[in-house]
Amino acid sequence: MKTNDFETKSTIFVRLFILLSCRKKCRVQYPDVQKKQHMKQRIVFATNNAHKLQEVRQILGAEYDVVGLDQIGCNEDIPETSDTISGNALQKARYIRQHYHTDCMADDTGLFVDALDGEPGVYSARYAGEGHDAAANRCKLLRNMAGKTNRSASFRTVIALIQDDREQLFEGRVDGVITSEEHGDHGFGYDSIFQPVGYDRTFAELTAEEKNAISHRGLAVRQLALHLLKNTNERQ
Ligand code: IMP
Repeated sequence: MKTNDFETKSTIFVRLFILLSCRKKCRVQYPDVQKKQHMKQRIVFATNNAHKLQEVRQILGAEYDVVGLDQIGCNEDIPETSDTISGNALQKARYIRQHYHTDCMADDTGLFVDALDGEPGVYSARYAGEGHDAAANRCKLLRNMAGKTNRSASFRTVIALIQDDREQLFEGRVDGVITSEEHGDHGFGYDSIFQPVGYDRTFAELTAEEKNAISHRGLAVRQLALHLLKNTNERQ
């Protein structure tokens, strides 16, 4: 072999070596770059309840951009006509998907009281009648529970997720008792008359972090978060 030939061949070899090791490095680094680009996932949550949005944002963390209905310009009343909480959650999520063409989630919650045969259940929001507020609902529930010795109840949440036209349900439940009077002023809805099992304080006396750690919605949202995380990892 001539010296020139040898030099040309070794130069080609060195270049090839640099190119290959560079590709290897890129392959190692590329998934991390992709991960960073996908870090903030936008999810429309079919609610305008600031408390709920805050709770869900806190649980899902900074990787998710949880957007409320007003942020997508949805001001209409979304129908909730099912007689189950899972039916209502699905109905709301399908409405957003159909009208706003976006991946979304919707929830429905009920407070199920054993001594009242599961009331107010799916009708928890309008227990005291249409147009009444949470204080009126709590008042009615305490009145109906007067003299009842069995005060067991459970909060149940179903979250419906529609992502790429696939529907999925996530459920969370927390057991507790209905107190005989209101205690605490955090939270919302029935929080001040619901005392979770293992606690001597109502939901309205717990901090937001304490409530999120054990609440019906907290459990359902964490299941949703695990699913989203798994999905994201599979797509990468
Ligand atoms: P929604 O399905 O989330 O609108 O809830 C139905 C009813 O249950 C409403 O009256 C809410 O105020 C009440 N509710 C939902 N979640 C909670 C909660 O975490 N604490 C107390 N009340 C709740």
